[in-house]
Amino acid sequence: MFENLKAQPADKILALMQAYREDPRDTKIDLGVGVYKNAEGVTPVMRAVKAAEQQIWEEQESKSYVGLVGDPAYSDAMIKLILGDSVARENVGAAATPGGTGACRQAFELIQMASPDARVFVSNPTWPNHISILNYLGMETVPYRYFDSETRGVDFDGMIEDLKTAKAGDVVLLHGCCHNPTGANLNLVQWQEVVDLINAQNLVAMVDIAYQGFGDGLEEDAQAVRLVASSVKECLIAASCSKNFGVYRERTGLLMAVSNDSSQTALNQATLAFLNRQNYSFPPDHGARIVTTILNDDALRADWMAELEDVRISMLGLRQQLADELQRLTGSDRFGFIAQHRGMFSRLGTTPELVEKLRAEHAIYMVGDSRMNIAGLNAQTVPILAKAIVDAGV
Ligand code: LMR
Repeated sequence: MFENLKAQPADKILALMQAYREDPRDTKIDLGVGVYKNAEGVTPVMRAVKAAEQQIWEEQESKSYVGLVGDPAYSDAMIKLILGDSVARENVGAAATPGGTGACRQAFELIQMASPDARVFVSNPTWPNHISILNYLGMETVPYRYFDSETRGVDFDGMIEDLKTAKAGDVVLLHGCCHNPTGANLNLVQWQEVVDLINAQNLVAMVDIAYQGFGDGLEEDAQAVRLVASSVKECLIAASCSKNFGVYRERTGLLMAVSNDSSQTALNQATLAFLNRQNYSFPPDHGARIVTTILNDDALRADWMAELEDVRISMLGLRQQLADELQRLTGSDRFGFIAQHRGMFSRLGTTPELVEKLRAEHAIYMVGDSRMNIAGLNAQTVPILAKAIVDAGV
C-alpha cells in the first residue's frame, strides 16, 4: 500500500522555516512564518498566559473530556471578543477547533456537506493553506482579484468585478483583518459594498480572522467581521488565538456558524459537534482554558490587552522605520505602502527571483511571493533589510 503514496507538495511557509533553521549564517533574518517575535527574536509566552496557566495548574482537578465542541465558556468568551454585541448569542453555533486551521477545515467540510456544488471564491493571493485544504477536499476554488501590484493596496474594482461572477450559494472567503499574505485591507465602506454584493447575489460569507489586535486595535480589527455577521443571512467565521494570545502550539481556534434565524442554531451547533467527532473527537482544551481564564478575569484581560497593544505598536513602529529608511535610500515614496499595510505581513510585490536573491546573498528569508513578516525585524535589522532591498534592485 505505502508504495502507492505520492510525494505531496511541500508547504512553502514551513519549508522556508526549515531552510532558515539550516542556514549557518549568523546574519540571517527570518521574515518567514507568521509568528510574533520581540526585539530579541524571541516569541515570548505572554504574561497573562503564564498567569492563567499557573492558575489552571493550581485549580484543575481533572483532565477528563470536556465536550465535543469544547467548553461552552470558551465559546461564549470568544464570541463576545470577536462579535461583541453585533449578533445575539442565540444566533451563533460555535465549536472549539485545533487552531484557526482546524476551524477553516471544519468550515470547508460543513460547506461541502450543505452545498456540495458551492465554489469557494478566494482572494488572489490568499493564505496558501486555504487553497491546499480546499484542493485536498476536492472543492472548487475561484480566485478573485485582490492585490494591486502597482499600488500594493487592494484592487477593489477588480475584486468586485470578480465577485459579481459568483452564483447564488457560492462562498466568499474573506480575511477579517490583517490580510495574509499582503497586509492590504479593505476599509469599512468597501466592506459594506462587499456585504451588499453578498446579499444581492445570495452568496455565503466566510471570514477567517487570525490576527485580531495586530492591525488597528482589538475592537477596530473586529469591525468588519461584526458588520458581516450582523448583515448577512448566514456566515461562517474561523478564528484563531494562536497569534493574539501567542498560544501557537496549543492549537486554539473557534468555528462559528452564524444565522439570522435563531431556529437554525441548534442544527448548526449539532453539525459542528458531529464534524468535530468525525475528525478528531474532542478539541484540545489547554489553550482554550487559558484564553477563557484570561478573558473572564478583569486583571488578566487588562494585562493581556496591554501586552497585545505593545506588540501592535512595536510592529507599526517597525513598519514606519522600514518605510522611512527606504524613502531615505531611494529618495522616493514607492515603499510608503509598508507603513500603510496592517498586521504581521507586508507583500513587497517583487519577483520570486529577487526574493531568492535576498535569501542567497543577504540571508534574508521571506516567502517566495515576497511576503515579509514585519515582526521578524528589529530596530537593528530594519536598515540591513532596507539596504538589501535596494541593493537587490527590488
Ligand atoms: C503563516 O501564514 O505564516 C501562519 O499562519 C502559519 C502557518 O501555519 O502557515
